Amino acid sequence: MDKAVSGFSKLSKEGKIEWIANRYFSEPTEAISLLKNYWNNDEKLQKLHDDFIENTITNFYLPLGIAPNFLINDKFYTVPMAIEESSVVAAAAKAAKFWSERGGFKATVLNTEKIGQVHFIFKGTSSKLEKFFNENKKLFFEETESITKNMQKRGGGILDIVLNDKTDLLPDYYQLHATFETKDSMGANFINSCLEQFAKTLKRLAQENDAFTEEEKNPQVVMSILSNYVPNCIVRAEVSCKVEELSDGKKVNAQEFAEKFVRAVQIAEVEPYRAVTHNKGIMNGIDAVVLATGNDFRAVEAGIHAYASKSGKYSSLSHAKIEDGIFTFWMEIPLALGTVGGLTSLHPLVKFALQMLENPSAKELMQIVAVVGLAQNFAALRSLTTTGIQEGHMKMHLGNIINQFEASDEERVMIVNHFENNAVSHSAVVDYIENLRKVKS
Ligand code: MEV
Repeated sequence: MDKAVSGFSKLSKEGKIEWIANRYFSEPTEAISLLKNYWNNDEKLQKLHDDFIENTITNFYLPLGIAPNFLINDKFYTVPMAIEESSVVAAAAKAAKFWSERGGFKATVLNTEKIGQVHFIFKGTSSKLEKFFNENKKLFFEETESITKNMQKRGGGILDIVLNDKTDLLPDYYQLHATFETKDSMGANFINSCLEQFAKTLKRLAQENDAFTEEEKNPQVVMSILSNYVPNCIVRAEVSCKVEELSDGKKVNAQEFAEKFVRAVQIAEVEPYRAVTHNKGIMNGIDAVVLATGNDFRAVEAGIHAYASKSGKYSSLSHAKIEDGIFTFWMEIPLALGTVGGLTSLHPLVKFALQMLENPSAKELMQIVAVVGLAQNFAALRSLTTTGIQEGHMKMHLGNIINQFEASDEERVMIVNHFENNAVSHSAVVDYIENLRKVKS
């Protein structure tokens, strides 16, 4: 059957599903009923989700978990996390509890500036372009007034616009580099609308500028788009305590643990292979909260990893030290988040998540998200430098293996009991289940 298609988006939802089922599945009816099993009975709710994107055929579930006991700047938060990885929520909750008994996390937003650029080609004299821009700069602000009016009422708007000469990098390449304050919204639509207006203003004013040659009157706007690199939209999260307080009543020697922990962070600071995994652990926490609160995790990921490379070499986002008997662990990361606009008022679970966080401002959400990232990193490094990661990870993963084998309730109890005191590995669980079933038969 032909797998090329035109007008797919015009097919009804049923039509799309049938098209796929008939082409890619030997049992089309099974494929269709699988997809329909994930439809919501509430038609209005289903329609809402269908309309988020094009060509929706069903819903794709992720678990929404809860990490309680996050004490941040002396206030307790119960944090929503949308993530599929078994051990992430458990690790966040454990680290949150640990630090809530040691004064909690401190978080500060250092700045909140967003960035957008109009990239254009100008074939002409650079000094003439500069003079033209300086003479007309205020018109760029004036001609975006209808777009910026509401944002200004909320205390935001365009902060500045500068002309950058990038011709050393690419012939004739210039940009209008603008900075924005977008208050509680992530601001992508606002920024992009302003930029597209700047581009129009630039083209019109260039046409009207008598000092320009014919070629100079026609700058070519290549694109107008916000940047997801926001190095001046930074939040800092930190924990600290006396080294001896790091002992949690187990066998761990606090001084040895602190020193090994700091060394583990130093390794991630100098070794990119380790830094990527170290930072991935941070993103486990960050992405989960960003997703649950309806923010754009791809934008956050891109911006944070660029920031991790700002020295020219990819490095750890977090840092740790021991000074005068005090252990301090901290991180500064860029985060462009919103608590109004976008999905925040559309997705019922996002609204729920934000309400559970007591409807935070964007700044407060930046603090929460950064803290969860730091907590996640703490939990990972604590496991890695003590028991190793697999013990906790596989304990959490045990449920998935049990599900894979469709264990009965009785088998489930026996398996869980057995692996209370035995190391979990995929093959050990498989062996145990097979033995159990052999004995029974
Ligand atoms: C696994 O999702 C994340 C870790 O690999 C992070 C780390 O190594 O620090 C455990």
